[in-house]
Amino acid sequence: MKKAIYPGSFDPITKGHLDIIRRGSKSFDKVIVAVLINSEKQGLFSIEERVSLIRKATFGIDNVEIISFEGLLVDYMEKNHISIILKGLRNSKDFEYELQMANVNKILGNEIETIFMISNPENSYISSSMVKEVCKLGGNISGLVPSEVESIIKKKIMG
Ligand code: COA
Repeated sequence: MKKAIYPGSFDPITKGHLDIIRRGSKSFDKVIVAVLINSEKQGLFSIEERVSLIRKATFGIDNVEIISFEGLLVDYMEKNHISIILKGLRNSKDFEYELQMANVNKILGNEIETIFMISNPENSYISSSMVKEVCKLGGNISGLVPSEVESIIKKKIMG
């Protein structure tokens, strides 16, 4: 069974993430979406909220599992016999950042491969920070986040 883990902070999930999950679910037998803490970022949504939003947005995609844990990604992967990391690439800035992470994970782990999917052009400008900023300023986020979770995201950000 070909399993891939798709890690990120997902604060919150966007249409771009959902596109990678959908496409990944067609290329792998199972996609495990891992909600992790990036210690460099201050989060808005709690981990439980992020997991719940992803669960709602991916409803109906049978081979997707959503998890969260603390600690190193490669440790979780080794314990659970997963060797593939799936990531989306939007632009050359992502590439620089992802190249570093992929190489560190390769050094830390054993036989870890990172596989990249190029984001669809319409998603290449979306990020979780962009969603939070647009929403906070009263903009329309319907083109940026999955429709199933738009109102929950708005409520959290706008109060
Ligand atoms: N579509 C839309 N947006 C996307 C995207 C896509 N396909 N891919 C990435 N993004 C955005 C995210 O929304 C995020 O935006 P933000 O900065 O506004 O929040 C940004 O790109 C970066 O996302 P991502 O690549 O998921 O990185 P991250 O910083 O959210 O998460 C971890 C990084 C959590 C995966 C990484 O720190 C990790 O693995 N931590 C676990 C501990 C560990 O093992 N550390 C060593 C790692 S080398």
